[in-house]
Amino acid sequence: MSKGKVLVLHGPNLNLLGTRQPEIYGYETLEDINNALYERAADNGWEIACRQSNHEGELIDAIHAARLDGTVAIIINPAAYTHTSVAILDALNAFDGKVFEVHLSNVHKRETFRHHSYVSLRADSVIAGLGSQGYHAALEALIKAG
Ligand code: DQA
Repeated sequence: MSKGKVLVLHGPNLNLLGTRQPEIYGYETLEDINNALYERAADNGWEIACRQSNHEGELIDAIHAARLDGTVAIIINPAAYTHTSVAILDALNAFDGKVFEVHLSNVHKRETFRHHSYVSLRADSVIAGLGSQGYHAALEALIKAG
């Protein structure tokens, strides 16, 4: 029996990681990041599902599915939708588990339009600027909490 089910959701353009502005987002690909998360979760008895979409509605559908399939936490990097999407905020507000908001870059050090996050109004935790370690920090917090 798994200790719990976690959904990792990656928003638009994150499929390009590794080649997209690597000076900001790093050289790891999304597959590298997901594989490391799968491994760490499995070693600790957690079940993890990783999904990426460039479409707001698909991210919302994934959050809705997580309400019904026993998912206890969502680790989400909403990417540009962070700063625009009331719809993703509303979907997360309808999810009862923990929500971790992750940004690879320190959004507060960047353009002012990146300083506001709709998702932060719901997130239990916000991690920015740690690169891919941000996803791990969220996962480790879950593992520690048991
Ligand atoms: C990002 C920051 C966002 O402002 C940007 O639109 C992204 C990625 C990050 O991980 O640093 O696509 O969420």
